[in-house]
Amino acid sequence: MSNEHKEMTNKHEKVETNVGLFFIFAILAISVGALVEITPLFFQKAMVTPVTNLKPYTALQMEGRDIYIREGCHVCHSQMIRPFRAETERYGHYSVAGEGVWEHPFLWGSKRTGPDIARVGGRYSDAWHRAHLINPRSVVPESNMPSFKWLDKNKLTGELTAKKLKTFNFLTKSHQRIDKNGNRIPLYSAEDIAGAKAAVKGKTEMQALIAYLQSLGLALK
Ligand code: HEC
Repeated sequence: MSNEHKEMTNKHEKVETNVGLFFIFAILAISVGALVEITPLFFQKAMVTPVTNLKPYTALQMEGRDIYIREGCHVCHSQMIRPFRAETERYGHYSVAGEGVWEHPFLWGSKRTGPDIARVGGRYSDAWHRAHLINPRSVVPESNMPSFKWLDKNKLTGELTAKKLKTFNFLTKSHQRIDKNGNRIPLYSAEDIAGAKAAVKGKTEMQALIAYLQSLGLALK
């Protein structure tokens, strides 16, 4: 073995046999890879601009979304249509980043025990959803979706609704639309926030969840 080759082998060996060094180099390699992959996404317009017809959730839809999360619907349902023929034929246009820029947290999911529901809005009537959520077997005999009948009895108080809208104004700051003067347009106006409690108080959780479901995917049909 030439001396030069020997020296090279020793250097490599040093990194491979020293846990501390190996760890540092591994972290370095992963960090550079991640930066190269992720950083450009923050600057691509299509990734950060809401699609034209995107509407913020109403106060009632926002409460419905929280119920969707609380009940774990996202554990069985994805909201992410992939750009494959088999998916677009069944569910509609594939999901795009501009539909999800205001989602915090996003509910794309990865498990499909049930179908994807990214575009379920408008597919069924409110009455169908209510019957389905009370007893899925009443409308889809072979369904193994659980019943969520308590949603029809629980009433919303609206105590936190205004706070939720304000939080969304804050979380979406960098992705809000921009007016003629270059100012950001918050998702919710002062009136929206002031009226939030009254808009949901006394409504059932069922009504809120259905309002949320009916809003899904409408921006890009
Ligand atoms: C244990 C898994 C599971 C959970 C949890 C679950 N679902 Fe389902 N869901 C299914 C399955 C399976 C189907 C397909 C059969 C049917 O339509 O009932 C379905 C169907 C649906 C459909 C009809 C979709 C379509 O395009 O036909 C909607 C809407 C729906 N679920 C909403 C919900 C909501 C809202 C929740 C939470 C409150 C929820 N699901 C929780 C499994 C689940």
